[in-house]
Amino acid sequence: MAPSILAADFAHLADEIARVEEAGADLLHLDVMDGHFVPNLTIGPAIVEKIRPVTNLLLDVHLMIEEPARYIQAFAEAGADVITFHAEVVGDPEALAQRIHELGCEAGVTMNPDGPLDQVRRAVPHVDMVLIMTIYAGFGGQQFLPETLPTIRTVRGWLSEEQRLEVDGGIHAGTVASAAEAGADVFVAGTAIFRSPGGDYAASIAELRAVAAAAAAS
Ligand code: DX5
Ligand code: ZN
Repeated sequence: MAPSILAADFAHLADEIARVEEAGADLLHLDVMDGHFVPNLTIGPAIVEKIRPVTNLLLDVHLMIEEPARYIQAFAEAGADVITFHAEVVGDPEALAQRIHELGCEAGVTMNPDGPLDQVRRAVPHVDMVLIMTIYAGFGGQQFLPETLPTIRTVRGWLSEEQRLEVDGGIHAGTVASAAEAGADVFVAGTAIFRSPGGDYAASIAELRAVAAAAAAS
C-alpha cells in the first residue's frame, strides 16, 4: 500500500506522513508534476529532501514531467528510493533505467491509459516496477478507469516474480479488488487514505490490503 501525499494536508505534511507510516503503509508515493506533461504543478526535489529524514518509508517518486532525465539525479540525491518515469516522454527507457540504477535507486516505467504499451514492453527487462495508471495522470480524486484492467493483465504476463506491478488512480475499497485480481501488487491511494471518512488511516489501509489480498488469492 502506497499512500499518495497529493491528498494529504500539506500544511502538516510531516504529521500526515507519520500517521500513514504508523498506519501500516509500505511505500510513500510522491507525485511530481511539472505543468507541462500534466496541467498540474506539485512538488520538486526540495520537498523530497525534507521528507526523507522524517520517515523510514521507501519514497516512491512518480515523475509526471516532460524531461525526467534532467531531474533524476536531483531526486536520487534528495532521497528517492524508486523513480518512475512516463514512457510517453522517454525515447530510450533502457538508458534512463540504467542511469536511475547507477544513482542507487530502483527504476519504474509508467504510462497513461492511452499510453505506448510497446514502449513499456521494451522497458520491462530494465525496470524493477511497472506502474499502470488507472486514471489520466494529473489530479487526485478521479474515477478508476476499468478499461485499464486488460492492460494490467497483459503487463503482469511480462513480469518476473520479483518485478512489481503498481496501479495508481481511483483506488479505493470498491476498485482495489479488480486491480489485484488483474495482477497488480502495489496500490497507490491518495483520497481513499488521506480523505477517508473519519480519518482512520490504519482502518483504510487495512481494508484496502485485505480486499486486495482476498482478490489476489481468488
Ligand atoms: C495522479 C497521481 C496519483 C493520485 C492518486 O496523477 O499520480 O498518485 O494522487 O489519487 P487518488 O488515489 O485520489 O486517485
Ligand atoms: Zn502517482
